[in-house]
Amino acid sequence: MSDPRTKALFVTLEGIDGSGKSTQARRLAETLRAAGRDVVLTREPGGSPGADEIRRLVLEGDPDRWSAETEILLFTAARRDHLERLIEPALAAGQIVVCDRFADSTRLYQGLSRGNLRAKVDALHELMIGREPDLTLLIDMDPATGLERARGRQGHEERFEDFGLALQERMRGGFLDLAREFGARFRVIDGNRDPDAVAADVLAHVRTALV
Ligand code: ADP
Ligand code: TYD
Repeated sequence: MSDPRTKALFVTLEGIDGSGKSTQARRLAETLRAAGRDVVLTREPGGSPGADEIRRLVLEGDPDRWSAETEILLFTAARRDHLERLIEPALAAGQIVVCDRFADSTRLYQGLSRGNLRAKVDALHELMIGREPDLTLLIDMDPATGLERARGRQGHEERFEDFGLALQERMRGGFLDLAREFGARFRVIDGNRDPDAVAADVLAHVRTALV
């Protein structure tokens, strides 16, 4: 049994837009830090200076400027930089990495939303990323509520939220399918509750993964 005070852990949060991933990632990082752990709180696309530059390319401007295939390359390029510069060094130093979205988001958004490109996503992932999180927390929730919450936020990164309810519904189903496909590392959490109840489940799963 490993020591929960020093064990490195790579945790990702996934779910549809507005499901509460960023809120929960932040709370988890705060709680773990208060317990004395070194935590890197990060997100995708982005998380390193180079990856943040790519984030602007994919999330701002004309939504039609990239083909689905080019998007796969851009999200994977951002992930490779993020992994090399931030995630792997942190894990090697025994830290906990809490990451808001990772490769499962590419499997869904690029793999499913504009035709079935999952095989291309997987091939590029295998070639250029080659690792999965230790634990993935899927915040599952009603797509209409998620969309309402996401639209309630201000911002200029509306690229994907613009696709509306039909896409949110497909993405929710897709995430649940991924949770079954990668059952060993996925845990599904009911996000239709108040933030404290969701945070308690998030923490319980992380504590279990740390021992
Ligand atoms: P995501 O990162 O998944 O898009 P956010 O954490 O940014 O989601 O949450 C979207 C919006 O919903 C924010 O305004 C946030 O304050 C609010 N929110 C988050 N979790 C809950 C919750 N459990 N109940 C109600 N509102 C929430
Ligand atoms: P994010 O900032 O997490 O948005 P939200 O807080 O609304 O969930 O992600 C921005 C958008 O990028 C989101 O709509 C999903 C999309 N995305 C992809 O399409 N592919 C990816 O690989 C990733 C990481 C995100």
